[in-house]
Amino acid sequence: MNKKKYDFSVWDVSQVYAGPGGKLWELLMGEQIHVGGAEQTDVLAKKVGLDKEKDIYLLDICSALGGPARHLAENYGTRIVGLDITPEMIEEAKERTKGKHYEDKIEYRLGSALDIPAHANTFDVVWGQDAWCYIRDKPRLIKEANRVLKSGGVLGFADWIWGSIEAPDSDADYLMEFMVFPDMQTLDGYGKLIEEVGLILIENDDLGDDFANHMDGYISILQKNKQNIIAGFGEELYVEAEKGVLAWQKAVHNKWVSRGMWIAKKP
Ligand SMILES: C[S@@+](CC[C@H](N)C(=O)[O-])C[C@H]1O[C@@H](n2cnc3c(N)ncnc32)[C@H](O)[C@@H]1O
Repeated sequence: MNKKKYDFSVWDVSQVYAGPGGKLWELLMGEQIHVGGAEQTDVLAKKVGLDKEKDIYLLDICSALGGPARHLAENYGTRIVGLDITPEMIEEAKERTKGKHYEDKIEYRLGSALDIPAHANTFDVVWGQDAWCYIRDKPRLIKEANRVLKSGGVLGFADWIWGSIEAPDSDADYLMEFMVFPDMQTLDGYGKLIEEVGLILIENDDLGDDFANHMDGYISILQKNKQNIIAGFGEELYVEAEKGVLAWQKAVHNKWVSRGMWIAKKP
């Protein structure tokens, strides 16, 4: 399995999200910048046990525009800390949350997932969606997630991963470079990291088929919006984006890459 690390730092990732890259992903995916939008947020919410009747304190690691945070506060009454390292994303998330009737349930913190600005044993749920692929040091990330989770709490996240069939090296390099991913795990790789910190792995699902359907959708959204994208961001960015998304579509259908979801409990 391709386990190569790529030379992207948190600075490179932040540059993407502070610039047109973040806007383009929002155009394709919506303000919840992950595969499946609100529907997938509801799937994960049920799996981690969010419930309007319970007072649950949740940390969203890599909260971006705060789309999931607002959805969870509004629909499940969850209290949330959204953590993100890109100042522009934190500012935009705050702006979009201002004036909402559930505004006091959400706090945004600027900081790194590798050094989470929170005390140990703070959260009932630690959460992430389609973002941890941007973080190189996965063992430290999972250790940090575990540190801030309360005993009896739940870790639930989804992420992009290597698939069951090994991608040819040159394709793998292009896929990672297009996305600015320094590292991707496998379904079992994450499972191992989760168990190594003492969490009990309850579920790990391969969501590759759903991922493939969504990738087909992203291509058609991109192509339908071609003229708008060129007008807003320039032709070069459009050509690059179309090439990259087509490569990911092919990779998902070939099972070179996939998307997974993990649920684990802290004893
Ligand atoms: C794909 S977006 C996340 C989408 C979000 N989870 C959602 O569902 O709407 C990726 C985000 O990860 C953030 N990020 C990347 N590396 C990070 C790190 N080391 N610590 C905290 N945030 C990070 C980026 O700033 C960006 O906002």
